[in-house]
Amino acid sequence: MSPTILVVDDDEDILVELERTLSKRGYSVTTTTSPDIALGRATSEDFGVVLSDLRIGARSGIDLCERIRAACPAVPVIVMTGFGTMEAAVETLRAGAFDFVTKPFSPAHLDLSLRRALDHRALSREVRSLRSRIDGQSGARGILGRSDAMGEVLEVVGRVAATGATVLVTGESGTGKELVARALHDASPRAKGPFVAVNCAALPDALLESELFGHAKGAFTDAKTTKKGLFLEATGGTLFLDEIGEMPLTTQAKLLRALEDRKVRPVGANHEVAFDARIVTATNRDIESRAAEGTFREDLLFRINVVHVELPPLRARGDDVLLLAKVFVRKFAERHGKALMGMTDDVERRLLAYPWPGNVRELQNAIERAVALARGDLVVADDLPKRINDHAPADILVSGTDPTELCSLEEVERRYIAKVMEIVGGSKSEAAKILGLDRSTLYRKVEKYRSDSS
Ligand SMILES: Nc1ncnc2c1ncn2[C@@H]1O[C@H](COP(=O)(O)OP(=O)(O)OP(=O)(O)O)[C@@H](O)[C@H]1O
Ligand SMILES: [Mg+2]
Repeated sequence: MSPTILVVDDDEDILVELERTLSKRGYSVTTTTSPDIALGRATSEDFGVVLSDLRIGARSGIDLCERIRAACPAVPVIVMTGFGTMEAAVETLRAGAFDFVTKPFSPAHLDLSLRRALDHRALSREVRSLRSRIDGQSGARGILGRSDAMGEVLEVVGRVAATGATVLVTGESGTGKELVARALHDASPRAKGPFVAVNCAALPDALLESELFGHAKGAFTDAKTTKKGLFLEATGGTLFLDEIGEMPLTTQAKLLRALEDRKVRPVGANHEVAFDARIVTATNRDIESRAAEGTFREDLLFRINVVHVELPPLRARGDDVLLLAKVFVRKFAERHGKALMGMTDDVERRLLAYPWPGNVRELQNAIERAVALARGDLVVADDLPKRINDHAPADILVSGTDPTELCSLEEVERRYIAKVMEIVGGSKSEAAKILGLDRSTLYRKVEKYRSDSS
């Protein structure tokens, strides 16, 4: 896709002329005569460069440049100066312009300046993305992960946080659903408001409704006073409905009405109250099959599933296991006053080979325990829970008892290498570590099996 240049000038003839020359050189061009429209579009669209005249009617191009730099610092601005005075040029650069071109300019000169600006933009984008990968963190605070699987999650979280959209977070137990819900809140304009979490599975049906929607005084025996309810407690903030898959059907019907009308009716009350909370929900159940079998309302699923964030299980996140483990070692060492430096290669191998049914929570607990037990300055295999040390990957390979299905050792090796490569997301160095081979040996084996099978 060719980069789009936004050209701002009050002279229509110049706009037509620039559009023609720049298109010929392969750029997509958008033009406007209004600095306000330019600013609006620059903030909402993804332009490669803004090319602005120094004077746009009575308005100043330098002022526009400053405002674009403030609103979207990643977009380079090039200013066209008509007078060629040094003063104007210096002033444009001071305002944060990437470059200036003096009129009349040759198309080649303009092209050069545009290319430099676009290269600069591409480079700074790359630096930013590399930096966030190195930190293992993106805009979403506290969610660690560098794997491609988590990269996608973090990208969606970063993109929707500010929009206030209703989000459904799914994933196995311990994959970080609540963490994502909090990150969505923290990165939203509602961050200063309350984050109210409720576990829909933990309360009996009747209590859940009065918790959520509130109740009027005397609504039932124990209702001695009026109660506001969590929808209203979350005013100006986020309401997190956890384990929504467990919500009883009667409550589901009331929740659907509330979400449709943006109003709640407290239990026993004859009036409705408008609420102002962003709704984030989570479940570790396969909610779509629950909807298909009729235990979860399809229309409610449709309402809560405006944006879907699906957290991958830890075993599908490759090296993230080690990234998380190292951060947890540091965290718990600090908490328990230990001077731990890290873990042995052997421990790393075991952590990578274990399938983590309890996901990040299980890893975190295992590391906390290991740190508490550790004696030297490294966590060693003995400090790990028995189930991790005992985990025998052999059961991946030999599960049947049918003699006709038994195979040669070489075939076992081939299958096992393929399985390990798949689990670590194709990383040969990680696979080599798990297999206890050096990289070149692994490489040779992978190549051999590949050529055997082709
Ligand atoms: N990517 C991550 N980076 C750092 N910490 C994480 C990450 N994912 C999960 N955790 C930590 O793991 C623990 C479990 O996460 P969380 O409570 O969000 O999981 P959950 O999906 O809501 O689990 P459950 O389904 O059991 O409620 C928390 O302490 C959380 O901080
Ligand atoms: Mg949870």
